[in-house]
Amino acid sequence: MEIISGFSKLSKKQKLTWLASQITDNPQGFVDEFESYQHRDPQVQKLYDEFSENTLTNFYMPYGLVPNVLINGTLYAIPLVIEESSVVAAAAGSAKFWLERGGFKAEVIDTKKVGQVHFLWEGDFKKLDVLFDEVRELMLDNTALVTANMRARGGGILAIELVNMTHLEPNYYQVKATFETCESMGANFINTCLEEFARTLKDWAANSEHFVGKEKEPLVVMSILSNYTPECLVRAWVECPIADLGNFEEMPPEMFAFKFSKAIMIAKNDPHRATTHNKGIFNGIDALTLATGNDFRAIEACGHTYASRSGKYQSLTDCSIENGIFKFWIEIPMAVGTVGGLTSLHPLVKKSFEILGNPNARELMQMMAVIGLAQNFGAVKSLTTTGIQRGHMKMHLLNILKHFEATENEVKIAVEHFKSNVVSFRAVRDVLDLIRIKV
Ligand code: MEV
Repeated sequence: MEIISGFSKLSKKQKLTWLASQITDNPQGFVDEFESYQHRDPQVQKLYDEFSENTLTNFYMPYGLVPNVLINGTLYAIPLVIEESSVVAAAAGSAKFWLERGGFKAEVIDTKKVGQVHFLWEGDFKKLDVLFDEVRELMLDNTALVTANMRARGGGILAIELVNMTHLEPNYYQVKATFETCESMGANFINTCLEEFARTLKDWAANSEHFVGKEKEPLVVMSILSNYTPECLVRAWVECPIADLGNFEEMPPEMFAFKFSKAIMIAKNDPHRATTHNKGIFNGIDALTLATGNDFRAIEACGHTYASRSGKYQSLTDCSIENGIFKFWIEIPMAVGTVGGLTSLHPLVKKSFEILGNPNARELMQMMAVIGLAQNFGAVKSLTTTGIQRGHMKMHLLNILKHFEATENEVKIAVEHFKSNVVSFRAVRDVLDLIRIKV
């Protein structure tokens, strides 16, 4: 591959042609294939192109639906964008299971978000602490225009505090601010406020009669929101009498509840298992996050930090068996937006919101927690009863059959055959060969 400068200035066609010239003997075929994934409507394509930079084409992902999700008595169908087979099936299975047992319950605990100005300052902390009220007022005044709309909607800056971090690093302090960003995820709003706080801090210190020498020169290292939002928190749960869990094939409900609770105990205690356990939760949450145009990296990063809040990485879900009642719940930070970003731009994101009944941010937080819980219930149920491979292998079998271009009848015969036989690429090919010889 050659070095290229000015790549971003090239047209899309030029970018593709350059790339093709670097990696293939069939540049036309390469370009044609990329172009075949473009949207047929140039206006829509332009929209997709502008979501990012150096765009060459669109990358397709399956857009699936989980029906029958009952949350706080309202029935939803939840769209999921995910490439992993059996995630949608597992969530749909859990949704149906709990639909018959009262559905999911969910509540938002709080919606506060956080941002920080990290700065270095050489001086007496007590002096800065005493004077901080002064600069706090200035920070609020100087951001009044920026926050006017948000305040009108019931949000804005909730608190600004000075945090002494010098026990970790000499001269290190933070301005830590708390925000309510209503329907938006709030990253832009928070970062704009923080950069204004930083400017205000520097001007105030430079002009303050209370400071001398180095005290007049705080060094702002950076101003940025924190994606760790432990106070933007949602809880979702399911519960029913153990007997109502029903039999799982040969397994009585008491044994299922017992094994299930032990699986959660293991994920509470062993970080290896907790990581896979939480990965399963994010199978659902990431997929709904993508479908609603939210930032799955932020949501995941936050979830994993929250999972480590005790000092040990642990399961995000919990389970109890008390007085004959099985209860399973999740508590998870969830900073989502229903306005801004992709939400009003991406055509399919708009459709997702329509399918979800145009939820507000608090309702979307609840749906996120529920789909994570549903996904986790499905995974742990499989793991503690049939094992995970049965479901996975069913999907795998269908993929292999697709690979061999099996007809509808061949699929039927093969699916029946592999109910009692181990699926492998070779075994499927052999069975198909047999069916095809017989025909
Ligand atoms: C696979 O994507 C997710 C699971 O491994 C989650 C789990 O083990 O709980 C099935």
